[in-house]
Amino acid sequence: MNYTKQDVHNRIKKILYGLTGITLSDNKDVMISNRTDKLFRNTGYVGDIMDLLDIVESGRQYVTEFINTFTTNKTHFFRETFHFKDLKDRVLPEFIKNNKTIHMYCSASSTGEEPYSMAMTVLEANKEYNGRINASIIASDIDTNVLEYAANGIYKYSKSSKEFPEWIKPQQYFKRRIQKNLVGEEVLIKVNDDLKKMITFQVMNLSDNNYPFKKEEFDVIFCRNVLIYFSTEDQNKILKKLFNHLKVGGTLYLGHSENPQDLISYCKRIGQNIFIKEKEIF
Ligand SMILES: C[S@@+](CC[C@H](N)C(=O)[O-])C[C@H]1O[C@@H](n2cnc3c(N)ncnc32)[C@H](O)[C@@H]1O
Repeated sequence: MNYTKQDVHNRIKKILYGLTGITLSDNKDVMISNRTDKLFRNTGYVGDIMDLLDIVESGRQYVTEFINTFTTNKTHFFRETFHFKDLKDRVLPEFIKNNKTIHMYCSASSTGEEPYSMAMTVLEANKEYNGRINASIIASDIDTNVLEYAANGIYKYSKSSKEFPEWIKPQQYFKRRIQKNLVGEEVLIKVNDDLKKMITFQVMNLSDNNYPFKKEEFDVIFCRNVLIYFSTEDQNKILKKLFNHLKVGGTLYLGHSENPQDLISYCKRIGQNIFIKEKEIF
């Protein structure tokens, strides 16, 4: 073994950047070591880490496992609830008034809690504002494991969970099931079909040169808590591509520590990380 731990980490960072655009900062050594162990478990590979990285880099095998191992997927239902409240009370009433389908994109959907929260918000707005509008939600992520989990739509539910705002009654959107396990029992909740049928899950890499959508296809884009994993330069590239698929007048929701970077003069900030597209970028 003619290499150091740092050599391994540097190589992992380089491969990860090449495959996903994710930039891991220098203080991520513990995380990289833990995920390296996980990579061995996920691939079942027995041997030297540098040989395993050779295989990943050649693209022959284990690329998906590598990407799935190194993404961070933390999420929960109605995260940053004020975005869903804004969607319900500002954006959706206009669509309900005009009886128009709303087209939304969730660009880093992880295990699905975010797009299902968007779908619940549409159904709540229909109730509150006497509407019957449909929504089409495209939800994508680079990690195939989380997409599979999301499409399955089964989640653990804890009574102490503060995930749902007071204007959502989870029992209307989920079926409950008690499951026994080794330490006792846990409550599982399964998303109902009304929510599921609004959402299309698909694999997509935000670092791809082009996105498979039409110009100005979406009325709303959620791009939350994913830009933080990219360099400022790459954040700008992603935001410009996303912006191209957002209608003028459409809404972009970003995560709590993200901002529209170079696009700031093309949009208007109307709330906590809520931006309305004002004009095209020429
Ligand atoms: C921390 S989660 C955020 C989930 C959700 N948007 C939220 O705010 O709760 C970040 C997600 O971004 C995804 N991701 C990372 N790099 C990506 C890329 N290049 N393209 C698409 N998704 C990516 C990860 O797989 C992960 O599921």
